[in-house]
Amino acid sequence: MTVLVTGGAGYIGSHAVLALLEAGYSVLALDNLATSSRESLRRVERLAGRQLTFIEGDIRDRQLLDKLFAEHTIEAVLHFAGLKAVGESVAEPLAYYANNVGGSVTLFQAMADAGVHRLVFSSSATVYGEPESMPLSESAPTARASNPYGQSKLVVEEVLKDLARADARWSIALLRYFNPVGAHPSGEIGEDPQGPPNNLMPYIAQVAVGKREQLTVFGADYATRDGTGVRDYIHVVDLVEGHLRALEVLENCTGAHVWNLGTGRGYSVLEMVAAFEAISGKRVPYTLQARRKGDVAECWADPTKARKELDWQARCGLEEMMADTWRWQSKNPNGY
Ligand code: NAD
Ligand code: UFG
Repeated sequence: MTVLVTGGAGYIGSHAVLALLEAGYSVLALDNLATSSRESLRRVERLAGRQLTFIEGDIRDRQLLDKLFAEHTIEAVLHFAGLKAVGESVAEPLAYYANNVGGSVTLFQAMADAGVHRLVFSSSATVYGEPESMPLSESAPTARASNPYGQSKLVVEEVLKDLARADARWSIALLRYFNPVGAHPSGEIGEDPQGPPNNLMPYIAQVAVGKREQLTVFGADYATRDGTGVRDYIHVVDLVEGHLRALEVLENCTGAHVWNLGTGRGYSVLEMVAAFEAISGKRVPYTLQARRKGDVAECWADPTKARKELDWQARCGLEEMMADTWRWQSKNPNGY
């Protein structure tokens, strides 16, 4: 079975391509390399001992999509392509709506015309907005996001729900990721942000490897255990396993289905720093600063629905997340 993976060269996409190849799927990876490197997929091929087909191109390019669907018997699409920097999305909303919403709609139109109706979409826990209570189950209300990036995820979710209502042939998974971290245990592929990382885990890893001086902890006055923000960090290998399960389950059901992909456990920023220091043996100096605009105090998943319906749950604990992040970062101090 052939799967089209958009954004396949990126952090999560490259791990998903590897898992698909290992599970026996044929993979077509489409990526414009806007925020990633061609090298990630070369390493994936080496790790898998199998070839994939890479197409450098854009999901907004309708002609290219039509050609891909005409030339290959694609049965399903894993759609990771998009831009994800929250701050940048505030400064450049049009780029975010054009890529994440416009690009997605173009992809869905090409799929519809090619008769391909099975889709797994990368959504985010950001669609829950400022949560009323914890943990977050899929029935919790969604809310207008505080930034265009989050808003683009919410809009695409709504587009896909409308699509599934309009045409019963669609089988769609809306996977709401909590906080993906970690890397493949080989240390060969991992998260390689361009410029200063926006997210906690790559920032910690870059401080530890000597690329950045110190971590800024955004807010120490939240109503949490130690005052710092609490999140549900999930190992990227567990996360992509959830995609493979969703792909299988979609084979036998139609409609649009929402699943949280999280562990169900929250850790604070300072707990993450301490766990990383313990595993890596490196010091991670930090300063406590003001809260970051738009951040929630705490956010963790109720993963029950995915466990019941996908027969999936996260297996890796914090130690593996830290050890695998550090192996990737120390083997590749400057990324790919
Ligand atoms: P990433 O930036 O590493 O990967 C995204 C990939 O999409 C990149 O390789 C990029 O070059 C490609 N891309 C961007 N625009 C494209 C376009 N128009 N056409 C073709 N390719 C394009 O990010 P990631 O962390 O791997 O995230 C993958 C998906 O998961 C994204 O949709 C992201 O919004 C979503 N997500 C990520 C997180 C997270 O914390 N990493 C959390 C929730 C949701
Ligand atoms: N943090 C710091 N210093 C940093 C970076 C982050 O203290 O340099 C803190 C944040 O304030 C927050 C925690 O670490 O308390 C996690 O922050 P991240 O930026 O790593 O992750 P977020 O929870 O803010 O956002 C992530 C993804 C979004 C996604 C969201 C869904 O970046 O794309 O999870 O919950 F929408």
